[in-house]
Amino acid sequence: MYDFIAAENKFEKENIAWNGNRFLTGNGYFGIRGTLEEYTKEQMCAVNMAGIYDRVGDAWRESVNAPNPLYTYIKINGVKYALPEAEPLSHSQTLDFRRGLHLRTTSWQTPGGSVTVSCERFASMSRRRFIGMRYSVKTDFDCAAEIVTGIDGDVWDINGPHFVKMRIGDENGIKSVTGITGEKAVSVTAAERLYVLFDAETETEKTDKAVLSHIRFKAAAGTEYAIEKTSYIVTSADDFTEECTTSEVTYRELKDEHISAWDKIWSLSEIEIDGDDEAMYALNYSIYHLNCIAPRGMRSRSIPARGLSGQVYKGAVFWDTEMFMIDYYIHTEPEIAKTLLQYRIDTIGGALKKAEEYGLQGAYYAWESQEGGYEGCSDYNVTDVFTNRPMRTHFRDKQYHVSAAIVYGLMKYIRGTGDYDILNGGALGMVVECARFYRSLLLKYADKPYYEIHDVVGPDEYHERVNNNIYTNRMAKLVFDTALELIDIAGRRYPDRAAELDKKYGIEALRAMLSDSSEKLFIREPDENGIIEQFDGYFKLEDVSVDEVRSRLIDPREYWGGAYGVAAGTQVIKQADTAAMLSMFADEYGADILKRNFDYYEPRTEHGSSLSACMYSLLACRIGEAEKAYPLFMKSAKADLVKGGKEWAGLIYIGGTHPASEGGAWIVAVNGFAGITETENGIECRPLLPEKWNAMRFKLVYKGRLYGVSITKAGAEIKEI
Ligand code: BGC
Repeated sequence: MYDFIAAENKFEKENIAWNGNRFLTGNGYFGIRGTLEEYTKEQMCAVNMAGIYDRVGDAWRESVNAPNPLYTYIKINGVKYALPEAEPLSHSQTLDFRRGLHLRTTSWQTPGGSVTVSCERFASMSRRRFIGMRYSVKTDFDCAAEIVTGIDGDVWDINGPHFVKMRIGDENGIKSVTGITGEKAVSVTAAERLYVLFDAETETEKTDKAVLSHIRFKAAAGTEYAIEKTSYIVTSADDFTEECTTSEVTYRELKDEHISAWDKIWSLSEIEIDGDDEAMYALNYSIYHLNCIAPRGMRSRSIPARGLSGQVYKGAVFWDTEMFMIDYYIHTEPEIAKTLLQYRIDTIGGALKKAEEYGLQGAYYAWESQEGGYEGCSDYNVTDVFTNRPMRTHFRDKQYHVSAAIVYGLMKYIRGTGDYDILNGGALGMVVECARFYRSLLLKYADKPYYEIHDVVGPDEYHERVNNNIYTNRMAKLVFDTALELIDIAGRRYPDRAAELDKKYGIEALRAMLSDSSEKLFIREPDENGIIEQFDGYFKLEDVSVDEVRSRLIDPREYWGGAYGVAAGTQVIKQADTAAMLSMFADEYGADILKRNFDYYEPRTEHGSSLSACMYSLLACRIGEAEKAYPLFMKSAKADLVKGGKEWAGLIYIGGTHPASEGGAWIVAVNGFAGITETENGIECRPLLPEKWNAMRFKLVYKGRLYGVSITKAGAEIKEI
């Protein structure tokens, strides 16, 4: 067992926003940004709730932050000492990501001597409503001290305020702040039990939005004075499948349980790499984040594109979940993967409605999905940096590939778990509706024998409204083929479901429609140089380097895509598109084609999305080029460890954690470097370790069984445990 520590040992004001992401703790029910206890909304403090959204006026709907029960600061001889205002003598902020603990220690010089505060806190992994916190103070001189602690309901919002009513409570030793959202009257309560572990006078202060305890005491030099809080969150939109009480628990008990829960998680999910500590660290840090945001013990929830790190990207769920994150859960805790899929099954209503809105059929899943499948994406999703006006973009209406990603995610789940019963619970209907959606997109010229899909935005969002995007077309074909396969399976195993389909659409007509669509859908072949053109006319665009395109920016925050973006008229693409398709369907192409396309597209890719590097990395593995894959893998695994990720799209702040990149790093490690492949006989290992890696060990859940995988330069072994 290695220590997993991420730390900053000096106070850097400019790192406040980044640290909020880097030092995030969470348990899937909420995420707590890695901010300090004295921080307020100014420093983007957030206890970000999964699955609860609100809209204020015409602004974007976004996820909701709970009242903050961590709010605490110190006063010495009547003077407040708090960051970022009061310059510290020393400061450290640490994330112990093996145990899911956030720690900080800060000292300040006061006129009479120095004061040091320390705090340890965590988002409980065992009792998912709870947050534990221990805050202590020590001075090197005798003085009058005061700890101010409570619940701050004046929360950070991007498009708030979301709480239109606040209720402040103080009963039976429990203080609470409840916010009621404006749009749907969802209540979000943060409550706390406070334990003062020394003699003090405590006074309660209530304001409109907060409840605070002022704990006053005479501090003796060299003595530590500690308080402990066990706080919990309850909302009216909770979706736990297990009993989640708020009954009393001590800090110690809560912490012990929490650490055991993390031990259990790591016993399944840790990946050991001999010979490359940096990669091992970054990969397990990625796995930590995937665990902080996993909806454990919930029936129907998914994961937003920026995890639970705030309201960025509206707290909405994108294709990121099914394309990049779900694999990790399928092979460690498949119930989580099922919860993610259940969210899609349960929100099909939103997808059917969206298709109808565009005159299409079937299920067109939201590009930015919120509760009920509500589409959070607007037609004007980027703000122009020059005019400050909203820009017309086509993510909402033309990014058709999201429904296919869901079908792909479902198939990965079924293949990895053998759980066909999910088809009986709504998944079959979902796949068929996705297929009907793609069918309704097919166009056919009278003089051509095949179907085309026009006017789309592929994963490369810099080129809007293109025809026959290779990724979209190939994914649509996958949906048709999957629907055919699953209808057959349902006929044998779930006759009632098949009968329902028969009644609705006529099963033979459905089959005929699916086969026709799959057979005749245009899938562009490689050209004479072996390159697959990303969309009709792509090769005719200006062929310039990424740097050249970047040099044309007038403002660094300018949007590269859209109608007038610097990349739009060029071959420079935002992220893996053709490469994404090839990494998924590598078996259908020879290594030479894969290599030629990697070599063509990679230099033309800006990697302007954190989803890009892992796809290229996986493709490099498919070509057998571990050393080419390695830096791209590291880029993906370090998405939240390295400062300077993309923070702006036009004038919109898009910082936050990058779980898709982290999930992508896991996919590369397991399916790429370890070469785990599902075959008819089970799982096989075809390793391709990077030069530095001497060995790799990890566990994998496959079809209800747990396997240990051990790879060395000499060979590989998969053993059931
Ligand atoms: C990417 C999308 C992605 C979204 C959320 C965008 O920048 O282009 O592919 O789904 O971010 O991560």
